[in-house]
Amino acid sequence: MGTEDSRLKAEDSPAVALVTGGNRGIGKAVCLGLAAKGIHTIVGSRSLEAGEKVSARIMKNGGSSEAVQLDVQSPASVEAAARQVEDRQGSLNILVNNAGMLSGEDRKSKFGTLPEGAFRETMDVNLFGTYRVCQAFLPLLEKAPWGRIVNVTSAMGNLSDAMTGGYSAYRISKAGVNALTANLAAELKSKRILVNCVHPGWVRTRMGTMVAPLSPKKGAESIIYAATLPDDGPTGKYIVKRQTQPF
Ligand SMILES: NC(=O)c1ccc[n+]([C@@H]2O[C@H](COP(=O)([O-])OP(=O)(O)OC[C@H]3O[C@@H](n4cnc5c(N)ncnc54)[C@H](OP(=O)(O)O)[C@@H]3O)[C@@H](O)[C@H]2O)c1
Repeated sequence: MGTEDSRLKAEDSPAVALVTGGNRGIGKAVCLGLAAKGIHTIVGSRSLEAGEKVSARIMKNGGSSEAVQLDVQSPASVEAAARQVEDRQGSLNILVNNAGMLSGEDRKSKFGTLPEGAFRETMDVNLFGTYRVCQAFLPLLEKAPWGRIVNVTSAMGNLSDAMTGGYSAYRISKAGVNALTANLAAELKSKRILVNCVHPGWVRTRMGTMVAPLSPKKGAESIIYAATLPDDGPTGKYIVKRQTQPF
């Protein structure tokens, strides 16, 4: 994406992006931000109706958008979403794996007391969900002339300085997302698909709570940056505030 903006906005073939969990929080802000760059933005969400509301707002603002039902825990839903995107758009340039959860049990339990079911559910949404969506959409990314995958991670999954105990399932799932990012990036290096993970900062959302310092729009900034990197940008990296940092 050397001449970034001209390629994103090319009238004959605008770039196409999909954001999971695009109906609210950071995902919604990413959808609005990508669409404002002239990118056709597909709002993925468990509730199609909720996704359609975001899509309608984008179109009201003059952007190009559609919604797709996408529950990252359901292989059938993920596969159906991939088929829909292929039928309508043919290929995909940008995939943002944003959908995520942090359960109430995880917030209040220590490693030794967190029930296995709660651990599994968090791993299933945050790590296996990312894995499922990457697998289903890789063929579409490979069909496009260039691709970007952004996995939304958290500093809470950072092995170098943030494994301080507590929030076990969330922390371990995000550490897994970081490893997935590095592994997939290595496989896709020769294919003009850059794969990075981004920590958005502490953001005011249902997950981040209303005492967080950053707005969803601010939290979306580094994600949008990684989604629109030039061809010679980093890959397989952990990005915070647009800077590469140790995993
Ligand atoms: N907020 C922060 O401070 C912060 C910090 C670091 C990282 N993050 C990461 O940022 C991402 C977005 O979080 P947020 O703060 O915007 O949280 P949020 O407001 O709670 O939004 C979470 C989003 O994920 C979706 N989701 C959950 N389970 C899903 C599933 N099975 N299939 C599809 N979508 C699902 C939710 O959809 P529903 O509406 O259907 O529930 C919602 O759209 C997450 O990956 C989170 O870990 C957030």
